[in-house]
This record gives sequence, structure tokens and C-alpha cells, in this order.
Amino acid sequence: MAKSKVKILVIDDDPKVSWILTESLAGKFDFVSAGDGIEGLQMVSTEKPDLILLDIKMPGMNGIEVLEKLNKLDGRPDVIMVSGHGETNYVVDSIKLGAAEFINKPFEVEEIEIHINGVLERSRLKKEVSQLKNELEARDNYDNFIGDSAAMQDVRSIIEQVADSELSVLIRGESGTGKEIVARLCHQLSGRKSKPFLKVNCAAIPRDLLEAELFGYEKGAFTGAHKNKQGRFELADKGTIFLDEIGDMPMELQSKLLQVLEQQEFVRVGGIQNIHVDVRIICATNKNLEVAINEHGFRDDLFYRLNEITVFLPPLRERPEDIPLLVNHFIDKYNNQYDKSFGNLSPATIEMLVNFAWPGNVRQLENMIKQVVVRGDEAVLADLIASAGSEGVAVAAVSSQPVAQTSASSGSDLQTYSLKERVGKTVASEEKRLIAEVLNKTNWNRRKAADLLEISYRSLLYKIKDYNLNATD
Ligand SMILES: Nc1ncnc2c1ncn2[C@@H]1O[C@H](COP(=O)(O)OP(=O)(O)OP(=O)(O)O)[C@@H](O)[C@H]1O
Ligand SMILES: [Mg+2]
Repeated sequence: MAKSKVKILVIDDDPKVSWILTESLAGKFDFVSAGDGIEGLQMVSTEKPDLILLDIKMPGMNGIEVLEKLNKLDGRPDVIMVSGHGETNYVVDSIKLGAAEFINKPFEVEEIEIHINGVLERSRLKKEVSQLKNELEARDNYDNFIGDSAAMQDVRSIIEQVADSELSVLIRGESGTGKEIVARLCHQLSGRKSKPFLKVNCAAIPRDLLEAELFGYEKGAFTGAHKNKQGRFELADKGTIFLDEIGDMPMELQSKLLQVLEQQEFVRVGGIQNIHVDVRIICATNKNLEVAINEHGFRDDLFYRLNEITVFLPPLRERPEDIPLLVNHFIDKYNNQYDKSFGNLSPATIEMLVNFAWPGNVRQLENMIKQVVVRGDEAVLADLIASAGSEGVAVAAVSSQPVAQTSASSGSDLQTYSLKERVGKTVASEEKRLIAEVLNKTNWNRRKAADLLEISYRSLLYKIKDYNLNATD
């Protein structure tokens, strides 16, 4: 597909300006023009230009006022101010208001072309930097998603596979297992990462307000609706909406949600007009939805539609080998946050944490470590665990599957007999060997290697980091 030309909106009461530019530069840019500020502002939303050339002196609204109005828009295009002679006193105002350049009339066409290209290049670089920053942040969050247990490795690989797809993801797991982190990662690792991620907790909003919150309302729809209001679905357009505690969504709203999923359309409360949105939906619940379906509290058609992919986060007691890693991660996190330098926990304390059943899962562990770091004393843990109640004490009694005594959790070198762990390790070492072999074959051309391995480029980068591979392997 041919690259479309950059569109430039010329706002100037002197029609000669846009005429000259169109005559001389039409082969390079697309020009549209407005004769005054009001028309110009309207055209910004209808024409969506990439750049604006804005005259300062115009009858009615002058260029500075137009610029002030433009600044209220979300993500306005870059603006080059154009001024007649003797108007240099506007330079400072324009710069303060964020104009990218200031050009004097009369100008040479070549001169203006250089300025236009300069501004476009700067804006391209700015976008690139912000995209890279986004990617680094996502990478950082991904690195801070801790857990090397086989179950958590599965979770990571599902996230990598589905994040950048349009599939609806249902995240399940007990309270505090990390469902929200997973939802955010799915968004950050997707093409929607620079667009909004909005969370709605279906259990925290009273049921009669939830519909208005999600879908917005029209003025007069109910008492107190003094003006039109956009709902979360409209605000999340092009981004992701995270419906937390979806199991608590009232039945009558479930059918409206199903309609949005199927048609990407809905009407505001009290409205008649269909509103189209492009939103990806991620849901989480700690309820057993299958039971809710049997008891007619949840629609089965909605369940299947939301559940194109399930990510199951196992309770912490079923992956005790992750506990020492999480402990170190939280010590680092709170040392940084509170400017402390708390060291490591003693092996005996780690052992105690590994043997605790963590009814509140990772959140509970994080809160305890935070207190330890802030108070600078690991002895507080014994009290905290004792006061967390007897429900957490006996791991095996509450665990839904036997907890494998791994070398990581026992602190000894005893070899594990856990089939899951042994198979997991064997697969990992074979995977590492194969990736190293293909990378060497392709002279570390990562794109080629990813193609040969039939995995995404991004997964390959993660794996290179995870396996600590480098060109000498
Ligand atoms: N694997 C993990 N690595 C690092 N931190 C984690 C991990 N899992 C959870 N956490 C931390 O634990 C806390 C709880 O996580 P989160 O809010 O995602 O849980 P949740 O499953 O959504 O809980 P709830 O059902 O109660 O809403 C957060 O502070 C989160 O940062
Ligand atoms: Mg949550």
C-alpha cells in the first residue's frame, strides 16, 4: 500500500498562503485550508491533519486564541505559527503555548518546506521515544511479574501468546493471586498499549449505577443526569477494559455486555443512538462461574464469549517455590520505595514463609514483607503469621494438590521427584539448547531465528533474556 501523504491544515484569512503552498508543494503534502479560527478548529476534528500552519493575525479569533483552544484537545497535531512582520512579540506566547515553530511572512516556499520537515521529523522521533518507553515499561512490568514455578511459566507463556491478539481473556484465581497484574500485562504487551486501560470493579459499584458507569448516559435519563456523560466503554475506545469481579455483574447487564462483545455497539442509558466502540475485554473473577451458571446467576453464552482464553493463577500455597523469589522481589521493592537497606531474611524465616498457606496469597505476602522492611526487623513476621490465623498454618491440609517438596523450598540439595517439575526442567533445557542452536545458525539474526522456531519475535527476545543466552553459547 502506498504511504499516504502528510496532511497539513492551513488556517489563514489570506487565501493566497494556502494557494501558494498547494501550487508548489502539492506533490509532497496534502493541503486543506480554513479561512478563520472557528472553521480551522472544526476542520481539526473532521480532517484530522498531521500538522497545522496557523496565522496569528486573523479577524475574529486570532492565532494565539486558536492555539489555546487546540491545547485543550487530546493529542493535538503540531502547530507552526505564521506571522506578518512586526508581530514578533507573539513569539514568546506561541512558544509558551507549545507551538513547534515560528515563521515570518513573507516566506520562501523552500524555507517553509524545511520547517515542515523538521517539525515532522521531531514529532516522529518523539513518538518513537514514547513507544520505546512504553515497551521498556511493559518489559519492566513483565520482569516484575515474579514466579518460576511450572504453573507460573505456563501463565507467562499464555500471556505472551494471547496478549497481542483480540481474544477475550478470563483470568481466574483466588484473591491476591495477581489477576490484575496479568490483565495489565495483557494490555501492555498488545498493540493497544498506548491507548487507555480502564478497570471497572463490578462488585464495588452499586448495581443501578453500574450500567451508567459502563455505558454512559444521556441528559435527563434519570434524576441527577444533568448532562450527557460518556461511559467506560466509550472512554476505553481503541484500548482495553478490565472488568474485575465479572461474576458479580447483574444478569440484566450481562445481556447488554454480550451485545457489545458481539456487535461492538451499545446505547447509552436513556439514549437511542448506537455508539460504536473498538474495545478489548479482559475479565477476572474469583468466583466459580460454572456454579453460577447452574444456579442461573451467570449467562452461559456470555461465559463462553468472555472465556476465549483462560488464565488460571494458582494459589500461592500450590507454588511454594515462588515464595523465596517473591520475598526478595518485595524486599527490593520496599527498600527502594522507603529508602531502606534491609538485607535478606534468614533461612529459618524463609522456611516458615514457605510452609505457611497464604490464604491472602501474594498480596498477603507482599504486605507482610512491606512491614518487615519498614520496621527493619524480620522477627515481626512470626507475630504477623501467628495473627494471620490458624487457616494459614498447615500447608498440606488446605492445599488442593500435594505440595512438592522442592529443593528451592527445602533449602537442601535433595533431588525432586515431582514429575511436573522434572518435565518442566527438561523441556526448558531442550528449549534453551534449540534456541541457541538456531541463533548460532542464523548468526544471531533474531528475526530469522524467530521465523525458523515459529515463535514471535517478542517471545524470542524474552526467551533469550530468560535463558541468559548470548552469542558465545
Ligand atoms: N507474580 C507476582 N509478582 C509480583 N507481584 C505480584 C504477583 N502476583 C501478585 N502480586 C502483587 O500482589 C498484589 C495483589 O495482586 P493483584 O491485585 O493483581 O491480585 P488479584 O488477583 O487481582 O486480587 P483480588 O482478587 O483481591 O482483586 C499486588 O500488589 C501485586 O503487585
Ligand atoms: Mg484484583
